[in-house]
Amino acid sequence: MNIKSYDEMIRERRLMLKSEEEEGIEHDEWTPHQIKGIPPPPLEKPYPKDSVLVELASPDCADLGKIPLVKTIVQRRSRRKYSSKALKLEELSFLLYATQRVTQVDEDRVRSKRVVPSGGARHPFETYLIVNRVENLEPGVYRYLAIEHKLLVVDRIGLFSDEISRACFGQSFIGESAVVFVWAAIPYRTEWRYSNLAYKSILIEAGHICQNLYLACEAIGSGTCAIAAYNQKAMDLLIGVDGIDEFTVYLAPVGKI
Ligand SMILES: Cc1cc2nc3c(=O)[nH]c(=O)nc-3n(C[C@H](O)[C@H](O)[C@H](O)COP(=O)(O)O)c2cc1C
Repeated sequence: MNIKSYDEMIRERRLMLKSEEEEGIEHDEWTPHQIKGIPPPPLEKPYPKDSVLVELASPDCADLGKIPLVKTIVQRRSRRKYSSKALKLEELSFLLYATQRVTQVDEDRVRSKRVVPSGGARHPFETYLIVNRVENLEPGVYRYLAIEHKLLVVDRIGLFSDEISRACFGQSFIGESAVVFVWAAIPYRTEWRYSNLAYKSILIEAGHICQNLYLACEAIGSGTCAIAAYNQKAMDLLIGVDGIDEFTVYLAPVGKI
C-alpha cells in the first residue's frame, strides 16, 4: 500500500488555495460541466410551492443601518456577549438582505447577482437561521429565500439553543444569541463552472458574506462573531442538509449588545 507522507498530504491540500493544478496533472477529467453543455443547477434550492413562508421587511422601510459606513468599519469586533433583548424582525430582514439578497436574475436564469460578489456569479450559498429570540418569529430552523426575500420554515419549530452550542463544541455564547446564521454551500453551483477550482472561490465568498454581516450588525446596535469551529455532522443534521451535496461551511451568532 502506498501511504502518503504528511508533506505529500499537505501539498495536496494546499492545491485548493491555488488558482491552477500543478504541472503534469491530467486536466481532461476536470472539464467543467458548463463547457460540456450540461444545464446549470437552479439559482436557489427548490422548495415545495405550498410551503409556509414568512414575509420580510424591505431594508429601506425601517430606520435601520443609517450610521456612517466608516464607523461600522472602525468599530467592528467579534462580539460574544449578547443582551436578552429580542431582535426585531425588521432588523433580521436587514441582516439577511445585507448578506445574501438576490438583486438581479438573468433572463435565462443561469446567473444572478446578490449583494456580495461571487466568482462567475455562481452564488453557492444557502442561508439557514436558528432562531432563538426574534420578535414575531417562533424559535426554530428557517431558510432564507434570497430571490423572494422571504423565510421558509425548514423543519422543526422549537428552541435549539442547547443543540447549537453543543454542535459548536460547547461555545455557549452561540446558544445565547438571538439568532444564528448558518451558511451552507451547494458546491455544484460553482463546480458546474469551475470544476476542481471551485473550492477556493467558495471559501473566499463565505468571507464576503460574513464581513457584510459584521458591518450590518454594527450598524444596528448588534454584534456577531464568525464561527468555523463546529461539528460537521451535528450542524448539517440541525439545519437538515445531506452533508454531501449541501453542507455547513461557516456560521455566525447575532444578538443585541
Ligand atoms: C474563519 C474564522 C473562524 C473563526 N472561528 C471562531 C470560532 O469558532 N469561535 C470564536 O469564538 N471565534 C471565532 N472567530 C473569531 C476570531 O476569534 C476573531 O476574529 C479574532 O479573535 C479577532 O478578533 P476581532 O474579530 O474582534 O478582530 C473566527 C474568525 C474567523 C475569521
